[in-house]
Amino acid sequence: MSSLKEKIITVVGSGLIGRSWAMVFLSGGYKVKIYDNVPGQASGAITEISKQFEELQQAKMLRGNLTAAEQFSLLSSHDDLQQALEGAFFVQECVFENLEAKQTVFGEVEKLVTENVILSSSSSCLMPSNVFSRVQNRTRCIISHPVNPPYYVRLVELVPHPETLPAVMDVAYSLMTDVGQAPVRLRKEIDGFALNRVQYAIIAESWRLVQEGVISVKDIDLVMSEGLGMRYAFLGPIETMHLNAPEGMEDYLQRYSEGMKRVLSTFGPVPDFSGEAAARIIKEICELIPAEQEHLTARRERRDQLLMELAKLKK
Ligand code: NAI
Repeated sequence: MSSLKEKIITVVGSGLIGRSWAMVFLSGGYKVKIYDNVPGQASGAITEISKQFEELQQAKMLRGNLTAAEQFSLLSSHDDLQQALEGAFFVQECVFENLEAKQTVFGEVEKLVTENVILSSSSSCLMPSNVFSRVQNRTRCIISHPVNPPYYVRLVELVPHPETLPAVMDVAYSLMTDVGQAPVRLRKEIDGFALNRVQYAIIAESWRLVQEGVISVKDIDLVMSEGLGMRYAFLGPIETMHLNAPEGMEDYLQRYSEGMKRVLSTFGPVPDFSGEAAARIIKEICELIPAEQEHLTARRERRDQLLMELAKLKK
């Protein structure tokens, strides 16, 4: 982790993720220029960031070696795209998850930057070959998919376009590491990337178990939060297998692969996520956490507080 840099990163889109990226890059000492196409939105975002920096500093959770004031002094807001892109070596796009919007943004951005500027998208589920289809030089394009909230959850999935140069992946990887994130490289694009494919597998089986009346919503969530999730905060599924048999992975496979195959062959089809099952699951979760804003906000605050504590533990 680093001190002041002279390098500039432009963040395009100043919503939840744009603000988070700005804070992460600032923590690494990078200059950040934040732009939004809604006039006044970007300046509102920097007021919000200033407030968050002060709170984080007080809670001793500010990232990086610089003070809140030092980090904030590296940030500027812009209502003009050309001005925002001036001098940048890396552009992190954070506009709505809408293909047309992203294609338009990258089409405009490419006209305003030089050949070697890296174009990076925060998209959570659009394919790089679609997002960058209107860019002429796609060798410098990449998706850097963060996890919410990126300030505490460090993973970034780096997903290449089929034409992306390895050197571009390397620069993105170094940048993410330098600012304290935990990048992973996908070797080729795939729908859902890695994180959402795994997440959707978990959601699908949880849904089927509740739908089939095997378990309640409350209890399936406990299976993760009090069971699997305890380990998964520190190790992945493959290391979990390796550690769960006395002689490691080979031993694990000998002992458990038949059982795994038997159980996996009983998994049902992709759920419909609608109809009677959806109504029942909505009712059950809303009895536990009513869908009114005050309740959702309280649970989100609890989530972020606990993630902050977990981030401390993982340091
Ligand atoms: P958001 O709705 O909070 O913010 C989007 C911002 O982009 C708004 O401020 C809007 O004014 C601005 N914008 C829209 N079109 C623009 C344009 N043409 N030029 C400049 N600014 C423009 O959205 P959020 O949640 O920040 O998501 C941004 C991206 O990050 C999406 O692609 C999303 O899929 C991805 N992402 C979101 C996560 C989340 O949990 N919210 C997690 C990981 C990725």
